[in-house]
Amino acid sequence: MKEVKKGLEGVVALDSQISFIDGVKGILKYRGIEIEKLSDLSYDAVSFLLIHGKLPNAEELENYSLELRNERRINRRLLDILNFCDFENESMDALRTAISVCAHFDEDSHNISKEANIRKTTRLVARFPTIVAAFYRLANGMEIVDPDPSLAHGANFLYMLRGKRPTEIEAEAMEKDFILSAEHELNPSTFALRITASTLSDLHSAIISGLCTLKGPLHGGARKGVMEMLDEIGSKDNIKPYIQERLEKKQRIMGFGHRVYKTYDPRALVYKEIVRKVAVEKGDSHWFDLAEQIESTMYQEFVENRNKPIYPNIDFYSGVLYKDLGIPSYLATSIFAIGRVSGWIAHCLEQYADNRVIRPRAHFV
Ligand SMILES: CC(C)(COP(=O)(O)OP(=O)(O)OC[C@H]1O[C@@H](n2cnc3c(N)ncnc32)[C@H](O)[C@@H]1OP(=O)(O)O)[C@@H](O)C(=O)NCCC(=O)NCCS
Repeated sequence: MKEVKKGLEGVVALDSQISFIDGVKGILKYRGIEIEKLSDLSYDAVSFLLIHGKLPNAEELENYSLELRNERRINRRLLDILNFCDFENESMDALRTAISVCAHFDEDSHNISKEANIRKTTRLVARFPTIVAAFYRLANGMEIVDPDPSLAHGANFLYMLRGKRPTEIEAEAMEKDFILSAEHELNPSTFALRITASTLSDLHSAIISGLCTLKGPLHGGARKGVMEMLDEIGSKDNIKPYIQERLEKKQRIMGFGHRVYKTYDPRALVYKEIVRKVAVEKGDSHWFDLAEQIESTMYQEFVENRNKPIYPNIDFYSGVLYKDLGIPSYLATSIFAIGRVSGWIAHCLEQYADNRVIRPRAHFV
């Protein structure tokens, strides 16, 4: 049997029309469009692009946005079940439970026809933010805030979370966060859910596979790790000792390095500018300045001691953004999932449309 590198590094597992990554040049495109351009659109438009393969025209966008806004509310019985979850320790466990409960209330749950999957897409994309905001408020003993149909995806999420409307810049930052997190080719969670879809299991089950995989600290869980690291470092004087101690112990610094990008992650560049803008508006650049200094210290450490640079990935500046938006670290991975659900569904639809069960072999030793 042909040898493959550990972690399937460099293995091309399937053909996909959803995203293109050039890890050497630092390029990411969804459906052929650069991420930098897409980050100026609405999340609804980017979600439509991922699901349907083309940007919506004005009428399609209006219809899709309206459908999403109409589907944002969640079932009261779901809230009762959420009340039993332990959010603060692991909000991803609560989100996984919530999506599983949603499947029980979805009349199309076991129908994997294209039409049923498109109906379920709207419900899932619309309700992820409502669920995350609801469990945050329940965990903190606050009243649930109903969605506001006049607000865009990002602004509405912040509104439901905090109970007051965000500033324009905060709303823009949240919208971009969802767009930048929406899709990334065969990352571990997407691969996991394509395997589930390839067995012809249903959409909710596939999404739950994705959630379970995104949770890990080497994948989406790194965003939470970045926020905890920022707190632990606290001030610029502690950066070098913190990094050196961890590298000596062969531990990972969260939010740095990438399997595919050998240069700056293009999403991190967009994030960095958003974080700068939010910090300027707040008149407090503590977290941004600390993050920039961590970035340059990591770069120097790697160039001097390992002869190769290391760059921030998507989770680094997104973690900084959440600090500036006052979001607790235990919500970070769940918020990542709010954005990612459109990309996940696009991959499920692609898998169902031209399926062969994904079943590789192991080399017996
Ligand atoms: C993302 C990640 C899992 C990619 O892993 P990978 O492709 O398997 O890369 P490797 O683990 O083989 O790393 C290559 C080398 O760089 C080092 N390295 C990579 N990322 C590192 C990090 N964040 N901190 C410290 N060292 C790191 C590894 O120790 C390894 O060194 P070695 O060759 O001396 O053993 C890895 O970079 C990582 O653990 N990053 C931190 C977690 C994170 O931010 N995840 C989010 C990804 S978007």
